[in-house]
Amino acid sequence: ALISMRQLLDHAAEHGYGVPAFNVNNLEQMRAIMEAADETDSPVIVQASAGARKYAGAPFLRHLILAAVEEFPHIPVVMHQDHGTSPAVCQRSIQLGFSSVMMDGSLKEDGKTPADYDYNVDVTQRTVEMAHACGVSVEGELGCLGSLETGMAGEEDGVGAEGKLDPDQLLTDPEEAADFVKATGVDALAIAIGTSHGAYKFTKPPTGDTLSIQRIKQIHERIPETHLVMHGSSSVPQEWLEIINEFGGKIPETYGVPVEEIVEGIRHGVRKVNVDTDLRLASTGAVRRFLAEHPAEFDPRKFLKASVAAMKDICKARYEAFGTAGNA
Ligand code: G3H
Ligand code: 13P
Ligand code: ZN
Repeated sequence: ALISMRQLLDHAAEHGYGVPAFNVNNLEQMRAIMEAADETDSPVIVQASAGARKYAGAPFLRHLILAAVEEFPHIPVVMHQDHGTSPAVCQRSIQLGFSSVMMDGSLKEDGKTPADYDYNVDVTQRTVEMAHACGVSVEGELGCLGSLETGMAGEEDGVGAEGKLDPDQLLTDPEEAADFVKATGVDALAIAIGTSHGAYKFTKPPTGDTLSIQRIKQIHERIPETHLVMHGSSSVPQEWLEIINEFGGKIPETYGVPVEEIVEGIRHGVRKVNVDTDLRLASTGAVRRFLAEHPAEFDPRKFLKASVAAMKDICKARYEAFGTAGNA
């Protein structure tokens, strides 16, 4: 059944677990997520980005998610809109039937320019008013995702700030977070702790200086009732990088957010953990390997089956590690 994000995250807080929120763009990702959830008895958050809507079209994404609900009626599913850039974008998703939306007012409507605090409060508060009237949950964001080393958001063509960010934007301030939640009434709050979107988060395994789990603890202490959200939380599995590079890929050395650091965050109020890149890496590695090993194959179902299996393994591992398993 389709449920709101608030319902699921309240349950997660009560029972002390986190929920991975996987981005969905196509049938293969949807199948991987649902089969993994089915096998581990996990509730599901699937999210559609602006890029996904551009690639697949909003109606296709909507029906992909509704098809998942139809095939797996026993699994609770949150249909979430990722990184909305304005109240109008969120309103369209609510109209389409999404049960949750993110209003990312940390950036202006162009999705690139860091916004000031008052702008963020204004657009988020307006979205909450509209969404709550429809029974839809809202995630807000305070602080900008980006590297604590370089001040850069990371992905060149993707989601995030353009240019160098100020150090004080890269770590969410606990006091400001308390004020923001009070002023907007958001159901969940995305925070900045040194992660960024995409595969290039850290040039070496992160330490407390580049990934601040400490900051999660400080925010959680100040606003213990608020469900915290970690973006840019792919772990960038080294084994998949090796497979990609072994079969013709060229991905330079890079590191993600270790699963055990996320688990530590979940002990301190993190309830939603966004993962997109890991499924992309697993899918690409599996397809590259399959085609290299089966050069005469040309039926896309064959290599896409390998893609589904690889993504499903990642989903299952996250459901188990985050404590989501057994809570559907
Ligand atoms: O928010 C970032 C997600 O990884 C989605 O990225 O816009 O390329 O689909 P995308
Ligand atoms: P990753 O790029 O680390 O998978 O993060 C995804 C994300 O935060 C989507 O909003
Ligand atoms: Zn994100």
